[in-house]
Amino acid sequence: METRAQVYEGKAKILYATDDPTLLVQHFKDDATAFNAKKRGTIHDKGVVNNRMSEHLFRYVEAHGVHTHFVERTDDRRMVVRRLTMLPIEVIVRNRIAGSLAKRIGVKEGTAARRRIIEFSLKSDALGDPLLTDDHILALGLVEEETLNEVKRIAGQLDDLLTAFFAQRGLELIDFKVEFGLDAEGRLTLGDEICPDTMRLWDMKSGEKKDKDRFRHDLGQVEETYQEVLARVLAD
Ligand SMILES: Nc1ncnc2c1ncn2[C@@H]1O[C@H](COP(=O)(O)OP(=O)(O)OP(=O)(O)O)[C@@H](O)[C@H]1O
Ligand SMILES: [Mg+2]
Repeated sequence: METRAQVYEGKAKILYATDDPTLLVQHFKDDATAFNAKKRGTIHDKGVVNNRMSEHLFRYVEAHGVHTHFVERTDDRRMVVRRLTMLPIEVIVRNRIAGSLAKRIGVKEGTAARRRIIEFSLKSDALGDPLLTDDHILALGLVEEETLNEVKRIAGQLDDLLTAFFAQRGLELIDFKVEFGLDAEGRLTLGDEICPDTMRLWDMKSGEKKDKDRFRHDLGQVEETYQEVLARVLAD
Protein backbone atom coordinates (compact mmCIF):
# COMPACT_ATOMS: atom_id res chain seq x y z
CA MET A 1 0.00 0.00 0.00
CA GLU A 2 1.30 3.42 -1.01
CA THR A 3 0.71 6.68 0.89
CA ARG A 4 -0.50 9.48 -1.40
CA ALA A 5 -1.48 13.14 -0.94
CA GLN A 6 -2.54 14.68 2.35
CA VAL A 7 -6.33 14.96 2.44
CA TYR A 8 -6.78 16.72 5.79
CA GLU A 9 -4.74 18.27 8.56
CA GLY A 10 -6.48 18.74 11.91
CA LYS A 11 -5.20 19.84 15.27
CA ALA A 12 -3.89 16.42 16.34
CA LYS A 13 -3.67 14.31 13.20
CA ILE A 14 -3.00 14.33 9.46
CA LEU A 15 -4.92 12.09 7.08
CA TYR A 16 -3.33 10.84 3.84
CA ALA A 17 -4.95 9.14 0.88
CA THR A 18 -3.52 5.80 -0.26
CA ASP A 19 -3.56 3.88 -3.54
CA ASP A 20 -6.65 2.10 -2.16
CA PRO A 21 -9.60 4.55 -2.26
CA THR A 22 -11.23 2.83 0.73
CA LEU A 23 -8.20 3.31 3.00
CA LEU A 24 -6.51 6.30 4.64
CA VAL A 25 -3.33 6.70 6.66
CA GLN A 26 -3.84 8.50 9.98
CA HIS A 27 -0.68 10.25 11.26
CA PHE A 28 -0.58 11.32 14.93
CA LYS A 29 1.19 14.62 15.70
CA ASP A 30 2.61 15.91 18.99
CA ASP A 31 0.57 19.13 18.68
CA ALA A 32 -1.80 19.73 21.57
CA THR A 33 -4.67 22.19 21.82
CA ALA A 34 -7.21 22.91 24.52
CA PHE A 35 -10.20 25.18 25.14
CA ASN A 36 -11.22 25.19 21.49
CA ALA A 37 -7.60 25.78 20.38
CA LYS A 38 -7.18 28.94 22.47
CA LYS A 39 -4.30 27.13 24.18
CA ARG A 40 -1.68 25.50 21.98
CA GLY A 41 1.50 23.54 22.62
CA THR A 42 3.27 20.29 21.97
CA ILE A 43 3.64 17.20 24.11
CA HIS A 44 6.81 15.25 23.27
CA ASP A 45 5.91 11.87 21.72
CA LYS A 46 2.18 12.31 22.35
CA GLY A 47 1.60 11.16 18.77
CA VAL A 48 3.44 7.91 19.42
CA VAL A 49 1.45 7.27 22.62
CA ASN A 50 -1.90 8.11 21.01
CA ASN A 51 -1.20 5.93 17.97
CA ARG A 52 -0.22 2.89 20.06
CA MET A 53 -2.96 3.39 22.62
CA SER A 54 -5.60 3.85 19.91
CA GLU A 55 -4.36 0.67 18.22
CA HIS A 56 -4.61 -1.30 21.46
CA LEU A 57 -8.08 -0.01 22.33
CA PHE A 58 -9.46 -0.40 18.78
CA ARG A 59 -8.29 -4.03 18.83
CA TYR A 60 -9.82 -4.55 22.27
CA VAL A 61 -13.25 -3.13 21.44
CA GLU A 62 -13.28 -4.81 18.01
CA ALA A 63 -12.66 -8.15 19.77
CA HIS A 64 -15.78 -7.35 21.82
CA GLY A 65 -18.00 -6.66 18.83
CA VAL A 66 -17.55 -2.93 18.09
CA HIS A 67 -16.83 -2.29 14.41
CA THR A 68 -13.90 0.16 14.09
CA HIS A 69 -11.98 1.83 11.27
CA PHE A 70 -8.65 0.33 12.45
CA VAL A 71 -6.80 -1.81 9.89
CA GLU A 72 -3.16 -1.90 11.01
CA ARG A 73 -0.47 0.20 12.66
CA THR A 74 2.38 0.76 10.20
CA ASP A 75 4.87 2.68 12.34
CA ASP A 76 5.24 4.73 15.54
CA ARG A 77 2.97 7.53 14.40
CA ARG A 78 0.80 6.01 11.68
CA MET A 79 -2.08 3.61 11.30
CA VAL A 80 -4.08 2.52 8.27
CA VAL A 81 -7.83 3.06 8.69
CA ARG A 82 -10.95 2.53 6.61
CA ARG A 83 -12.07 5.77 4.99
CA LEU A 84 -15.34 6.92 6.55
CA THR A 85 -17.93 9.57 5.88
CA MET A 86 -17.90 11.07 9.36
CA LEU A 87 -21.14 11.93 11.14
CA PRO A 88 -21.13 15.69 11.84
CA ILE A 89 -21.42 15.12 15.59
CA GLU A 90 -19.11 14.28 18.47
CA VAL A 91 -20.35 11.74 21.00
CA ILE A 92 -19.44 12.37 24.64
CA VAL A 93 -20.00 9.78 27.37
CA ARG A 94 -19.75 10.83 31.01
CA ASN A 95 -19.61 8.70 34.16
CA ARG A 96 -18.85 11.65 36.46
CA ILE A 97 -19.46 15.35 35.91
CA ALA A 98 -16.19 17.03 34.97
CA GLY A 99 -14.63 19.52 32.58
CA SER A 100 -16.87 21.79 30.53
CA LEU A 101 -20.11 20.30 31.91
CA ALA A 102 -19.08 20.86 35.55
CA LYS A 103 -18.25 24.47 34.72
CA ARG A 104 -21.38 25.11 32.67
CA ILE A 105 -23.86 23.80 35.26
CA GLY A 106 -21.88 24.90 38.31
CA VAL A 107 -21.20 21.57 40.02
CA LYS A 108 -17.97 20.37 41.57
CA GLU A 109 -15.52 18.59 39.26
CA GLY A 110 -15.91 14.85 39.84
CA THR A 111 -19.50 14.92 41.10
CA ALA A 112 -20.99 11.42 40.75
CA ALA A 113 -23.68 10.90 38.11
CA ARG A 114 -26.65 8.67 39.00
CA ARG A 115 -26.54 7.27 35.54
CA ARG A 116 -24.33 7.47 32.48
CA ILE A 117 -24.73 10.63 30.40
CA ILE A 118 -24.49 10.45 26.61
CA GLU A 119 -24.42 13.83 24.91
CA PHE A 120 -23.70 15.21 21.47
CA SER A 121 -22.03 18.27 20.02
CA LEU A 122 -21.85 19.68 16.53
CA LYS A 123 -18.42 19.12 14.95
CA SER A 124 -17.67 22.79 14.26
CA ASP A 125 -14.49 24.43 15.52
CA ALA A 126 -15.80 27.80 14.31
CA LEU A 127 -18.82 27.50 16.65
CA GLY A 128 -16.88 25.85 19.49
CA ASP A 129 -18.56 22.43 19.08
CA PRO A 130 -21.96 23.48 20.54
CA LEU A 131 -24.11 20.99 22.46
CA LEU A 132 -26.92 19.36 20.44
CA THR A 133 -30.03 17.61 21.74
CA ASP A 134 -31.42 14.53 20.00
CA ASP A 135 -34.22 16.73 18.64
CA HIS A 136 -31.73 19.17 17.12
CA ILE A 137 -29.90 16.31 15.41
CA LEU A 138 -33.10 14.73 14.03
CA ALA A 139 -34.87 17.98 13.14
CA LEU A 140 -31.83 19.22 11.25
CA GLY A 141 -31.33 15.83 9.60
CA LEU A 142 -27.72 15.63 10.79
CA VAL A 143 -28.04 11.89 11.48
CA GLU A 144 -30.84 9.41 10.71
CA GLU A 145 -32.87 8.30 13.74
CA GLU A 146 -31.95 4.65 13.37
CA THR A 147 -28.26 5.58 13.16
CA LEU A 148 -28.51 7.86 16.21
CA ASN A 149 -30.08 5.05 18.25
CA GLU A 150 -27.28 2.74 17.15
CA VAL A 151 -24.68 5.41 18.07
CA LYS A 152 -26.15 5.59 21.58
CA ARG A 153 -26.17 1.82 21.97
CA ILE A 154 -22.53 1.51 20.87
CA ALA A 155 -21.50 4.48 23.04
CA GLY A 156 -22.92 2.66 26.07
CA GLN A 157 -21.21 -0.56 25.06
CA LEU A 158 -17.89 1.29 24.64
CA ASP A 159 -18.33 2.85 28.08
CA ASP A 160 -18.85 -0.57 29.69
CA LEU A 161 -15.85 -2.06 27.85
CA LEU A 162 -13.47 0.84 28.48
CA THR A 163 -14.53 1.37 32.11
CA ALA A 164 -13.73 -2.30 32.85
CA PHE A 165 -10.47 -2.15 30.89
CA PHE A 166 -9.14 0.89 32.75
CA ALA A 167 -10.42 -0.27 36.16
CA GLN A 168 -8.21 -3.36 35.78
CA ARG A 169 -5.31 -0.92 35.37
CA GLY A 170 -6.18 1.22 38.38
CA LEU A 171 -7.76 4.05 36.38
CA GLU A 172 -11.31 5.38 36.56
CA LEU A 173 -12.82 6.38 33.24
CA ILE A 174 -14.50 9.71 34.00
CA ASP A 175 -15.59 10.63 30.46
CA PHE A 176 -14.60 10.26 26.81
CA LYS A 177 -15.36 11.55 23.31
CA VAL A 178 -15.69 9.39 20.21
CA GLU A 179 -16.51 10.00 16.55
CA PHE A 180 -18.37 7.68 14.23
CA GLY A 181 -18.69 7.46 10.46
CA LEU A 182 -20.21 5.30 7.76
CA ASP A 183 -17.92 3.02 5.76
CA ALA A 184 -18.18 2.28 2.02
CA GLU A 185 -20.99 -0.22 2.72
CA GLY A 186 -22.88 2.29 4.87
CA ARG A 187 -22.00 0.47 8.09
CA LEU A 188 -21.73 2.52 11.28
CA THR A 189 -18.07 2.46 12.31
CA LEU A 190 -16.06 3.84 15.23
CA GLY A 191 -13.41 6.21 13.81
CA ASP A 192 -10.86 8.78 14.91
CA GLU A 193 -8.84 7.93 18.07
CA ILE A 194 -9.16 6.68 21.65
CA CYS A 195 -6.37 8.11 23.79
CA PRO A 196 -5.57 10.44 26.74
CA ASP A 197 -6.45 13.45 24.52
CA THR A 198 -10.05 12.29 24.24
CA MET A 199 -10.82 10.89 27.71
CA ARG A 200 -10.46 11.70 31.39
CA LEU A 201 -8.74 9.05 33.49
CA TRP A 202 -8.24 9.44 37.22
CA ASP A 203 -5.94 7.25 39.28
CA MET A 204 -8.17 5.13 41.52
CA LYS A 205 -5.78 5.35 44.50
CA SER A 206 -4.38 8.87 44.39
CA GLY A 207 -7.15 10.59 42.43
CA GLU A 208 -4.49 12.13 40.18
CA LYS A 209 -5.50 13.19 36.67
CA LYS A 210 -3.86 10.97 34.02
CA ASP A 211 -4.96 12.66 30.79
CA LYS A 212 -4.89 15.86 28.75
CA ASP A 213 -6.15 17.87 31.74
CA ARG A 214 -2.46 17.93 32.84
CA PHE A 215 -1.78 20.01 29.71
CA ARG A 216 -5.03 22.00 29.88
CA HIS A 217 -4.43 23.14 33.45
CA ASP A 218 -0.60 23.14 33.54
CA LEU A 219 -0.47 20.38 36.15
CA GLY A 220 3.06 19.28 35.18
CA GLN A 221 4.36 15.76 34.36
CA VAL A 222 2.46 15.88 31.07
CA GLU A 223 4.77 13.75 28.90
CA GLU A 224 5.49 11.37 31.76
CA THR A 225 1.77 10.84 32.33
CA TYR A 226 1.12 9.99 28.66
CA GLN A 227 3.94 7.42 28.83
CA GLU A 228 2.64 6.04 32.13
CA VAL A 229 -0.89 5.59 30.78
CA LEU A 230 0.44 3.83 27.67
CA ALA A 231 2.51 1.47 29.84
CA ARG A 232 -0.57 0.67 31.94
CA VAL A 233 -2.69 0.11 28.82
CA LEU A 234 -0.13 -2.26 27.29
CA ALA A 235 0.36 -4.22 30.54
CA ASP A 236 -1.68 -7.43 30.62
N1 LIG B 1 -11.69 6.84 9.22
C1 LIG B 1 -11.84 8.14 8.97
N2 LIG B 1 -12.17 8.58 7.72
C2 LIG B 1 -12.30 9.89 7.46
N3 LIG B 1 -12.12 10.88 8.38
C3 LIG B 1 -11.77 10.50 9.63
C4 LIG B 1 -11.63 9.13 9.99
N4 LIG B 1 -11.30 9.06 11.32
C5 LIG B 1 -11.26 10.34 11.76
N5 LIG B 1 -11.55 11.22 10.77
C6 LIG B 1 -11.56 12.69 10.82
O1 LIG B 1 -10.21 13.10 10.65
C7 LIG B 1 -9.91 14.24 11.40
C8 LIG B 1 -8.78 13.92 12.34
O2 LIG B 1 -8.00 15.02 12.58
P1 LIG B 1 -7.92 15.76 13.99
O3 LIG B 1 -8.39 14.88 15.11
O4 LIG B 1 -6.58 16.37 14.07
O5 LIG B 1 -9.05 16.86 13.75
P2 LIG B 1 -9.44 18.01 14.76
O6 LIG B 1 -8.41 19.05 14.81
O7 LIG B 1 -9.87 17.35 16.02
O8 LIG B 1 -10.60 18.71 14.04
P3 LIG B 1 -11.98 18.28 13.57
O9 LIG B 1 -12.30 16.94 14.19
O10 LIG B 1 -12.85 19.37 14.07
O11 LIG B 1 -11.89 18.21 12.09
C9 LIG B 1 -11.20 14.62 12.13
O12 LIG B 1 -11.90 15.58 11.38
C10 LIG B 1 -11.96 13.29 12.15
O13 LIG B 1 -13.35 13.47 12.23
MG1 LIG C 1 -9.78 15.41 16.64
